[in-house]
Amino acid sequence: MLFALGFIFMFTIGGLSGVVIANASLDIAFHDTYYVVAHFHYVLRVNVTFFPQHFLGLQGMPRRISDYPDAFAG
Ligand SMILES: *[C@@H]1O[C@H](CO)[C@@H](O)[C@H](O)[C@H]1NC(C)=O
Ligand SMILES: *[C@@H]1O[C@H](CO)[C@@H](O)[C@H](O)[C@H]1NC(C)=O
Repeated sequence: MLFALGFIFMFTIGGLSGVVIANASLDIAFHDTYYVVAHFHYVLRVNVTFFPQHFLGLQGMPRRISDYPDAFAG
């Protein structure tokens, strides 16, 4: 039952971040950033590891690159 409740919680967060991406103007800004990666993994129910990626994506961190830019070193 705990797993079922956890799934509902994670799926809700993933769904709410999906509503943000549904906004066309924000989708252009978030396209190919880690925000989309974080949204996707929360829908799949992966906790904590992917949560900071929401903030990376909001700051413009692109996905599909091999290393973090110096701006994200901290
Ligand atoms: C997410 O991870 C945190 C830290 O490990 C844990 O306290 C929390 O219960 C987890 N949430 C879900 C829904 O699994
Ligand atoms: C989409 O996001 C922009 C910027 O935050 C906002 O001004 C606009 O009202 C939003 N559109 C909708 C349909 O929510």
